[in-house]
Amino acid sequence: MIPLSVPNISGNEWTYIKECLDTNWVSSVGSYVTKFEKTLAEYTGAKYAIATSNGTAALHISLQLAGVERGDLIIIPNITFVATANAIKYTGADPVMIDVDSNTWQMDLGLLEEFLQTQTEIREGFSYHKKLNRRISAIVPVHVLGNMCDMDQFIRIAQTYRLIIVEDSTEALGSKFRGKHAGTFGLFGTSSFNGNKIISTGGGGMILTSDEKLATKAKHLTTQAKADPNEYYHDETGYNYRLVNILAAMGVAQMEQLDVFIQRKKEVAQMYKNELSFIQGFKTQEVIEGVEPNHWLFTVKVPHKAELIAYLKSKGVEARSFWVPMNRLPMMEKDLYFTHNDISQDVYRACVSLPCSTSIKNEEVSQVIQFVKDFYSGL
Ligand SMILES: Cc1ncc(COP(=O)(O)O)c(C=O)c1O
Repeated sequence: MIPLSVPNISGNEWTYIKECLDTNWVSSVGSYVTKFEKTLAEYTGAKYAIATSNGTAALHISLQLAGVERGDLIIIPNITFVATANAIKYTGADPVMIDVDSNTWQMDLGLLEEFLQTQTEIREGFSYHKKLNRRISAIVPVHVLGNMCDMDQFIRIAQTYRLIIVEDSTEALGSKFRGKHAGTFGLFGTSSFNGNKIISTGGGGMILTSDEKLATKAKHLTTQAKADPNEYYHDETGYNYRLVNILAAMGVAQMEQLDVFIQRKKEVAQMYKNELSFIQGFKTQEVIEGVEPNHWLFTVKVPHKAELIAYLKSKGVEARSFWVPMNRLPMMEKDLYFTHNDISQDVYRACVSLPCSTSIKNEEVSQVIQFVKDFYSGL
């Protein structure tokens, strides 16, 4: 079986985890949690990093601290993993879904601006949806598959309409726009280290921010809001969202290899592109000028997607369909989708992700390429 994207455990993971076990520092306090946070902050250039139990928790806390309140609307791209929308729902807000660009598969910034111009007005320092009379307090750019949109344009729009930026940079650790790391453009950025991400701790996440007060608050909220070092006095409703030391130890070891992982992702993507571009209708994500992606998950738009996935499965190759667009999920408010041509559906219908673990061998990539060629030549 050639898997889609699995963790690459070939560095100091065993050594660091063993140290946690040997010293009994296994839980949510320990030197590796602090070290992992420091490493992430230094790597991305964010001033502060707060480790969490997963990326969804990181998003939830970031949104809450960005001031999102029950009844608010929060803007997201219509193509994302459901966790972006779920974290918004946890705060009592609802997502406004903006259709994606047909080339980059990121939020369509032209459409975003049109939505804000035509459907919102600014009152008392906030944008309001005119028809629904609901505040739009924040916007969540999702750096889908590790790619990014034009962040200069994005920030200009967000500032014009007084929208706080909380980046869902869970897939984009190591991606940059004009040299600046994904996750450092907004008030908050977020990371995920689940099993298929570019680095993995099995499960885990990180909140990035450069605001000291918010960083302190984030740590407080993720650790049950305990406000007294001796007594069990909690000054608000907190969460048990802290990453444990064992997993942070794995994270520290994985971070030592991140640059190598990014390089390998890039090579694998290039191999696929070189060999598969002959397929009629084959299209990869456009990377605009200024973006350096981390090439997290190699995904391609192809004809006969479902049949290709089934064929590859029969050959022992794991390929995966893209996420069903958010507007098509039953818990979303359908009329909060802004689009002209429903590009999301077009992208979803034709996109397939191919095996691209950082540990994949060149012969395995060649094998997948051959299977894909066989499939199309047999049509
Ligand atoms: C775009 C996006 N947002 C949020 C998440 C949530 O991260 P986690 O699985 O660590 O909760 C993920 C990853 O699963 C993701 O891909």
